[in-house]
Amino acid sequence: MESKTRIKWFDSLDSTNDELLRHLPTYDNLSVVAAVEQFAGRGQRGNRWLSEPGDNLTFSLLLRPDRLPAREIMSITFLAAVVIRDWLREEGVPALVKWPNDLYVGNRKICGMLIENGFAEGMVAWSVIGIGINLNQTRFPGELVNPVSLKRITGKEYDPESALERICQLFEMRLSALSGDRERLYEAYCEELFQAGVPRPYRDLLTGEEFTGTIKGVTREGRLLMDRDGMQVSFAFKEVGYIL
Ligand code: BTN
Repeated sequence: MESKTRIKWFDSLDSTNDELLRHLPTYDNLSVVAAVEQFAGRGQRGNRWLSEPGDNLTFSLLLRPDRLPAREIMSITFLAAVVIRDWLREEGVPALVKWPNDLYVGNRKICGMLIENGFAEGMVAWSVIGIGINLNQTRFPGELVNPVSLKRITGKEYDPESALERICQLFEMRLSALSGDRERLYEAYCEELFQAGVPRPYRDLLTGEEFTGTIKGVTREGRLLMDRDGMQVSFAFKEVGYIL
């Protein structure tokens, strides 16, 4: 069975995730919605995603996975993060995955993801994978903590349309692993994580306490494994923060 992404560009949308979510029944598996401008882009934890119109990539891909158990939902994060890392590396940029689903170059964020899912009968019914990648923007609003773009790193200008086409090809190449060798996706994700193996400061978001920890890996369920004072501990998303 041929699986192919279909890209639909909009000049302006509130949010590419919201466009797919609003019209979910009318969009096929592997539909990709991209916007030149997002005027209400959404980020993690209720934050806004700010992106200069025309400069960057803001898009969402709809997946209707073939029998993916709900408990393995993290495989979608593993897939998306690895695909974008593959693409950035193809562009000569040594990006690392910052758990759970950011891409960092050095200490700076080049890509963020907002993945929203629906479940039915213990399976993943659909997943909207929203991705923002900074391509050409060189000036960022002060409220963003540590953004960077490809252009800032390489000095080159990027064409959003051709970048998206290549990213979709890379998605298609990795997609079969989602219904087959999910272990391979997991291993690829864990390959080289941002700050892994190095003692760094973190904040326990449940207690507010700052501590020094060393990232040891990520579990298949997506928990961050750390060494904290010689003890192995694990955190769910929103239970620990990086202090950069
Ligand atoms: C984050 O790092 O906070 C997640 C950012 C996700 C941004 C992308 S841009 C395309 C898609 N549409 C949205 O409204 N958000 C995601």
